[in-house]
Amino acid sequence: MKEALVSTIKSLNPTNLSDVVIETKLATADDIAAAARRAKAAQKSWAKMPAPARGRVIANAGRLFENNKEALSALVTREMGKVYREALGDVQEVIDTCDFFLGEGRRMYGQTVPSEMPNKNLFTFRMPVGTALIITAGNFPAAVPSWYIIPALLTGNSVVWKPSEFTPAVAEAMTAIFHAAGVPKDVLITVVAEGKETFEGMVKGLDEGTINKVGFTGSTEVGRLIGAKVGEYIQSACLELGGKNPMVIMPDADLDLALDGALFAGFGTAGQRCTSLGTLWIHDSIYDKFLKMYADKVASSKVGDPMQDVLFGPMIGEKYAETHEHNLKMIQSHHTVHGSTGMGRITKENPREGFVGDPQAGVFVHPTIVAGIKKDDELYYTETFGPLVTVGRFKTLEEAIDLGNDHGFGLSAAIYTSDPKAVWTFREGISAGMISINNSTSGAEAHLPFGGNGNSGNGSRQSGIWVLDQFTRWQSLNWDWSGKLQKAQMDNEEVPHNPDFKI
Ligand code: UN1
Repeated sequence: MKEALVSTIKSLNPTNLSDVVIETKLATADDIAAAARRAKAAQKSWAKMPAPARGRVIANAGRLFENNKEALSALVTREMGKVYREALGDVQEVIDTCDFFLGEGRRMYGQTVPSEMPNKNLFTFRMPVGTALIITAGNFPAAVPSWYIIPALLTGNSVVWKPSEFTPAVAEAMTAIFHAAGVPKDVLITVVAEGKETFEGMVKGLDEGTINKVGFTGSTEVGRLIGAKVGEYIQSACLELGGKNPMVIMPDADLDLALDGALFAGFGTAGQRCTSLGTLWIHDSIYDKFLKMYADKVASSKVGDPMQDVLFGPMIGEKYAETHEHNLKMIQSHHTVHGSTGMGRITKENPREGFVGDPQAGVFVHPTIVAGIKKDDELYYTETFGPLVTVGRFKTLEEAIDLGNDHGFGLSAAIYTSDPKAVWTFREGISAGMISINNSTSGAEAHLPFGGNGNSGNGSRQSGIWVLDQFTRWQSLNWDWSGKLQKAQMDNEEVPHNPDFKI
């Protein structure tokens, strides 16, 4: 018998590429379809379990994530390179999500609704969708998957999870925690696969009716393909896509506060958050001053070993560094570049002043500020997903709002000001799904609606009570106990009234 070819993938520590974190088998489209069949078969009995009991399982998971917080966070830093403090935050967001949804097991409220007929009662119930295929990215290997997996499980769905190929070890650890918490093996199945196989597996599952919901966090380009395909099956995907998140600095802003916000938003997680700062829009009257403050701050920040006290560590992996280098080619002659002693890869020949560790052991790049950005520039429209922040100027708030919207993304936006009128004008005018006042574009709390508009998403929202609409369908029930057929809209009692009455 011919042996089937099994391909594997090695996940490397981006701080030190000689450290192989894990070698994992890559699933094929058929493997994904088979996983979806198994998950689908397991879903009904999971949904039969009372929701408060499923809430207890989520509570168990939360406790296990808490007990394993340091170990899992260290694995996050080792496998994808974010600084350890941020990794602790990534895992904390899983715990927060468990905290929120364990109680939802005792709510999952439906409504009792008055009927227009006597002796008739109306109700609504939340029903699970079925089996969800969840496809997530490498930048938040713990938090973002949990935003899907936890509410999906709590509401009675089963899940096939396809994590990023860059973070299979974190995915394996998380899956083990969920199983240890009491989630049956077939109710949460994790498969590591490449994009093409994942897409084909998804189509098979959609065809077979074993995938009833798709959740995707990643690029706008891939989100468009997934959304369109899923639409053919009369489903709507939960899409969490890219951003080009603006931060507006008004002349009355607290500039030191704004500086901290712009630093973290732009360069935290090496700029690889979907909520990372895209363009910093500085008011004309403070442009030179604030640009200098920003450039100096970035230039003097430490970059390097993510287990040390640095602004950011390596890129998630080689592919991300290549994208960053590609984006640098979009810099034009009317731009000026700031923030480091070089551009592109940090090497012995192209060093970063004050680098912590050995840059050549991993995948490190210089932070780059590109000033003088204009609407026609390619960089104005491009989500750079790396330590590259574009900076531009504006004269009026209306202009800043237009600049913050016109690229078509609408995920996160921030304004620094002390003027309440500017706050409310900005809130009303900006098209982003998430707005920060005197705070970073990144760092959303785990129980507010997370998601975007336009190129950033199709209006779906994750987190808090809002995600429940992604993983449940409303079922309405009417119960007529009058003993006769009462026809709605026809057999209603009209209350006599005088339409010509005037005082
Ligand atoms: C993401 O980058 O996909 O708001 C998620 C934040 C984090 C989550 C980011 N809590 O920056």
